Amino acid sequence: MRAPTPGNAVYPEDPDHEIPGPEGCAAAEQLLQRLVALRRWSGQPSLRRLRILGGSVELADGTWVDVLPETTVSAVLRGHSPRGLPRLALVEAFVRACLMSCGQQRYAAGQVRRWRRAWRALAAGEEGALAPIRPDPALPVPRQLPRPIRGFAGRDPQLAQLEEWSRRPYDDPAAGPLILVTGPPGIGKSALVVQWAHRSAARFPDGHLYADLSGNAGAHPVIVRFLRALGLRVVPDDEEEASCLYRSVLAGKLMLVVLDNARSVRQVRPLLPGSPTCTVVVSARAYLSDLVIREGALPMELSALSDHDAFRVLSAALNVEFAHRDREACRRYVVEAGGSPLALRILAESLIRERNVPRLNA
Ligand SMILES: Nc1ncnc2c1ncn2[C@@H]1O[C@H](COP(=O)(O)OP(=O)(O)OP(=O)(O)O)[C@@H](O)[C@H]1O
Ligand SMILES: [Mg+2]
Repeated sequence: MRAPTPGNAVYPEDPDHEIPGPEGCAAAEQLLQRLVALRRWSGQPSLRRLRILGGSVELADGTWVDVLPETTVSAVLRGHSPRGLPRLALVEAFVRACLMSCGQQRYAAGQVRRWRRAWRALAAGEEGALAPIRPDPALPVPRQLPRPIRGFAGRDPQLAQLEEWSRRPYDDPAAGPLILVTGPPGIGKSALVVQWAHRSAARFPDGHLYADLSGNAGAHPVIVRFLRALGLRVVPDDEEEASCLYRSVLAGKLMLVVLDNARSVRQVRPLLPGSPTCTVVVSARAYLSDLVIREGALPMELSALSDHDAFRVLSAALNVEFAHRDREACRRYVVEAGGSPLALRILAESLIRERNVPRLNA
């Protein structure tokens, strides 16, 4: 479902599986993250707008107070609720205000009921009492990121940029951040993406899906693997049907999807979730222009490492002490590698063997 510009789309009658909800939360912290997701989905209304839409109530002493004061809401969303779980009245008013803010108030009553149920279950300490959307609760939350490479160094601006893009409130509230990292072979695309993903992993409590697409021509085998990891036992044979099911399962989840070493847009498109709560990072040698033009991917072109970063990569791969002792040899290697981290790692390996340099932490 496309959120929110009134009049821009046909809305389904039962949007429960499209609007980010609280199902599956086992702790107050997760409930807050879902509230953040709901606000994002509804177009990131400002705190002021939420306060106005939240209205005010009269207290017993005759004074009027805002239901959604900006400072309280801001503190709650940042996880600084005094009692962990925010007050039910605040949650209900927040949900209502988010939906009103994007012209979807007709769903407000149903959505509020959904949050009230979840809030009550949490307040009663009934972990897991919330309607599970995980089809097989016995399965662990998918955490599929491969291990980060040892001795990763440099790329600070790119790591910061990925962080910024992935946190940016969406211009288009219907779609979550989609990032495309491109560059020549061995330049460090996969290493960078995996490094960043590990650093930000905690922001995606519903899981991390990872696929190396270099060996797969089509998307279907990957969707099948993802759906199984998400707890589905029976998966459609038809790619389009499987892709629709995949989007349904991911709707409303705070999930990170890493599509590494992609070769074509055709391979990637069926793996794109439709929910603004999901973040996708794609790495590819080729600049997948269709992903940028049609899907609004944010492109990052990775180029050669600066000499400074190359030196850092080399010293991390070698042995920092050695690298500093023999700066001349290292400088030659940096020039020889031409800013390619892969070349630097290969050169470092030969140096380790030739000169019997003790390995990192060996
Ligand atoms: N920032 C880095 N610090 C240290 N080593 C790195 C760094 N980036 C890449 N490497 C090393 O270079 C090798 C190649 O990197 P990587 O596989 O990420 O390249 P790639 O751009 O994804 O290549 P391909 O196009 O073949 O997928 C990695 O195995 C890793 O050892
Ligand atoms: Mg790669």
